[in-house]
Amino acid sequence: MNNRPAISCENLTKRFGSLLAVDNVSLTIPKGSIAGFLGPNGSGKSTVIRMLSGILTPTSGSGQVLGFNILTESETIKHHIGYMSQKFSLYEELTVAENLDFYAGIYGLSGSGARRRKEELIAMAGLTGREKQVSGSLSGGWKQRLALSCALLHEPEILILDEPTAGVDPVSRRIFWEVIHRLADEGITILVSTHYMDEAETCDTISFIFFGKLLVSGTPAELKKQSNTATLDDVFIKLVESQENHSLQEGGMRRG
Ligand SMILES: Nc1ncnc2c1ncn2[C@@H]1O[C@H](COP(=O)(O)OP(=O)(O)OP(=O)(O)O)[C@@H](O)[C@H]1O
Ligand SMILES: [Mg+2]
Repeated sequence: MNNRPAISCENLTKRFGSLLAVDNVSLTIPKGSIAGFLGPNGSGKSTVIRMLSGILTPTSGSGQVLGFNILTESETIKHHIGYMSQKFSLYEELTVAENLDFYAGIYGLSGSGARRRKEELIAMAGLTGREKQVSGSLSGGWKQRLALSCALLHEPEILILDEPTAGVDPVSRRIFWEVIHRLADEGITILVSTHYMDEAETCDTISFIFFGKLLVSGTPAELKKQSNTATLDDVFIKLVESQENHSLQEGGMRRG
């Protein structure tokens, strides 16, 4: 029971009309690990994430989050995960504290417990002293850490982050990832998508998704060894090139 993975799925598939956005993806994410999703724009990373978060119903396939079925127990799953969507937006006209209060209300938290949790998260995000600042005036990096704090209010066991650092400067990205690693050290499982290879390098495992298909999955070291390359950038480029050659030979890729 204790060895049960935090997240698993089998042959997860999503069609949008004639578009096969996610094609038979199977994966397992152990508890307390940081799992990274990589892949070009439009590959299906967000679609997999949304199905695993219980937000989007798969066309076929199955999945479990902490043992709960993504098809039939999505409401329960939502209580156990913190989710930051790709276009996550704070209420810009509200202050830092007001945003946290708002999300605490959504999660049904109140009283001294909620107050304590809010203070903890403000400290974790390095937002102490900025509680009264209007969120819209925070820089990109601060906003993302506030958004992360909002996603953590209900003490989720799993954190699902869809490109949390897109457009954030390198120093702020590093600070954000230090927080991610601290959370993983505390036992929280993290599923995160990114286009930044320096971030992917620090994940425990990486899944490379290419136009709906999970091409490879493994530790950064394993992936580099398998493709006989020195960097994850090269792994990525080699995979994309091999797929492009393959699709040229096949005369098309995934429509139908
Ligand atoms: N609700 C939807 N209706 C129709 N098509 C969709 C929908 N959501 C996603 N798609 C399509 O599914 C494919 C996968 O999209 P998805 O957003 O999952 O990719 P992604 O890997 O997250 O890309 P990015 O790196 O740009 O965020 C794309 O072709 C996208 O246009
Ligand atoms: Mg996406």
